[in-house]
Amino acid sequence: MKYLIYLSLTFSCIVVSAQEKSFQWQQVAPGVWKALAGIPEKVSPLSIAGIEPNRAALSKLGEPSFPANLQQSVNEIFDAKTLLRFPLEREEQLFGLGLNFKSVQQRGTIKELQVDHYGGKDDGRTHAPVALYISDKGYGVLINAARRIKVYAGIAVRKDSKNPPDEMNRNTQSNWDPQPYSDAVEIVVPAPGTEVYVFAGSNALEVVQRYNLFCGGGVLPPKWGLGFTQRTPTLFSGKQVMKEVDAFEQRGYPLSFIGLEPGWQTYSYPNNFVWDSTRFPQPQKFVRGLLDRNIRVNLWINPYVSSHSPIYKDVLPYTGTHTVWAGVVPDLTLPPVQDLYKKLFSQQHLGIGVSGYKVDETDGFDVWLWPDGAKFPSGLSGEQMRQIYGLQFQKMSDQWFREKNQRTYGLTRASNAGAPSLPYVIYNDYYNHRDFITALCNSSFIGVLWTPEARSSKTSEEWLRRMQSVCFSPMAMLNAWADGTKPWTFADVADEVKSVMLLRMQLLPYLYNAFAQYHFEGKPPVRAMNLEEGFFFNAKEERGNLNSSDNPYETAIKQDIKDQYMLGDYLLVAPMFAGEKTRKVVLPKGNWYDFYTGRLAGNGAIIEIEPGLQNIPLFVKEGAIIPMIPPVLHTPGKDEILPLTVRHYGHTENSIQLYDDDGETFDYEKGAYARALLSVKKDKEGKLKGSAKLPESKAFHYNKITWEFMTK
Ligand code: GAL
Repeated sequence: MKYLIYLSLTFSCIVVSAQEKSFQWQQVAPGVWKALAGIPEKVSPLSIAGIEPNRAALSKLGEPSFPANLQQSVNEIFDAKTLLRFPLEREEQLFGLGLNFKSVQQRGTIKELQVDHYGGKDDGRTHAPVALYISDKGYGVLINAARRIKVYAGIAVRKDSKNPPDEMNRNTQSNWDPQPYSDAVEIVVPAPGTEVYVFAGSNALEVVQRYNLFCGGGVLPPKWGLGFTQRTPTLFSGKQVMKEVDAFEQRGYPLSFIGLEPGWQTYSYPNNFVWDSTRFPQPQKFVRGLLDRNIRVNLWINPYVSSHSPIYKDVLPYTGTHTVWAGVVPDLTLPPVQDLYKKLFSQQHLGIGVSGYKVDETDGFDVWLWPDGAKFPSGLSGEQMRQIYGLQFQKMSDQWFREKNQRTYGLTRASNAGAPSLPYVIYNDYYNHRDFITALCNSSFIGVLWTPEARSSKTSEEWLRRMQSVCFSPMAMLNAWADGTKPWTFADVADEVKSVMLLRMQLLPYLYNAFAQYHFEGKPPVRAMNLEEGFFFNAKEERGNLNSSDNPYETAIKQDIKDQYMLGDYLLVAPMFAGEKTRKVVLPKGNWYDFYTGRLAGNGAIIEIEPGLQNIPLFVKEGAIIPMIPPVLHTPGKDEILPLTVRHYGHTENSIQLYDDDGETFDYEKGAYARALLSVKKDKEGKLKGSAKLPESKAFHYNKITWEFMTK
């Protein structure tokens, strides 16, 4: 007995004194390294997403060496958890760490990254808790574990730090800092091992590109996915949906796809996934009727199965210990479950022409999903399943459409690492216009897409401002599920709303090109300003005063640019918010022009604008070439050829490649695409002239180019 006690004491001593280890980095693609800490778990976000790196594109991006800053990184298994530590330099800025809504800068924050509905705080509970941080020094670090990952991003100070903060005296020193300088990112993964990836790059954008390309490149949506979409109220019937479509048409508002909310099924919350025959007596005819009018159908679901579903009995043995809204929770990682969903969804939906899904409620709030103690037949815990459930549904459904050689583009409320190539856009129930724009900025660091959907508004001003933002996002969506708001509901701004929706349609070639860059080069279509060359604004920290009612040490206020962003290479979007007549816009170095007038707006400056209600402020980079189509009501069909108006801004020569393909299938992956060369050059008199080299290819859908030189 004595002997045994002695042994166990010795054992605990060994654990306590376990040594930190350096990582054994292994290059896995050009500019990408992987290392293991402890023994990683089998299921991880990247394994669920089933990523296939685009190695050719990664090679094209170059072969940078391993980031010197990360040489001193260490890991250790302690207390059945994995501890990771990565060095930080003094001036370094950090971005990413999940889909955040409040700030772009993440240095000096603590997060417990986990899938959940965003609750109003950037604390790690979010729809895409991608454990990836991007440094402005030109590297990124990804922790690939399906766990709640706790990150101290430049927070903790070790007593053996080589760059410790100075000890100060609050009594006498007014610059005493409640959050002393920290020289490391420390991460705790509650599992005895994890994979860690490092992405290198000459700047933050190149790092993001490498991450996206490593995950297979960004998604290239079908063209219709980039048009306008309206979601109809919950219990609408087929007839009412058709009336809604007619109204859009008659009033001249564009519509490319329409979303049906819960009432299309006989049972929902939990779901049976079967059409309700009273509201939709002939679903096939209904869907075909819309397709004939060039309008796609998207179906709302959540994955929880009602006892009335045809798959209920067969799926039951493969479900978790807990229910959600009294529906069973299938273990989506198991092939028999995947087969059951595929069979039912193919027969009920894809087979009759449905084009995509809105996959709801895979995120939380905690109160309705399963607890951590839930168990799933695959052996996954509740905690693990939570981190990958939404991702798994995205992957699974993407596969169904791929097999039909048909692209889809849908909505999800839960995602994670590995998602760039998956055809889903994140949305939520939170509804703060400003924070929605910050989320747009932040989506660009972590390989996800976000829509700042419009639902309703208190005033027509707010409605217009929200609709303007929506039209400059990855999915231009009005989600009218609850109160049936229409684009024209606020009569006094109905024309302005229409004009921005039509502008969205006109910009489709530009937008599609931006998404082609996402796919082929890994460049996100929406980008935070911090990813833009020539952006000079450095985040500052301002300290408030100590006080006794709030936490006296929670006084840091971050100043960063989170209310403007880039859309594609040339457009800077600066949304207006209700109640504001003026705003500041930070223009990076180089000339920037007003989109609507072509006039010079500034160069490397913070400008104050008073734009009026009519337009969303848009600024265009020097030399920009912007291809546009006429203001169409539906996305152009597969064989439709349209004329192009190509705008040029500024005074400099430039050229762009304009990408095109059939806009619907995956044939582009086998090379069925074409690119035109659009160039602007000065003639002998120094006057700018445009020329176009159009490819002779069925994949190219534009002819008759008209040039517009916007800057006089
Ligand atoms: C919510 C979702 C809304 C809407 C609603 C319908 O969970 O976020 O967009 O779909 O369900 O019940």
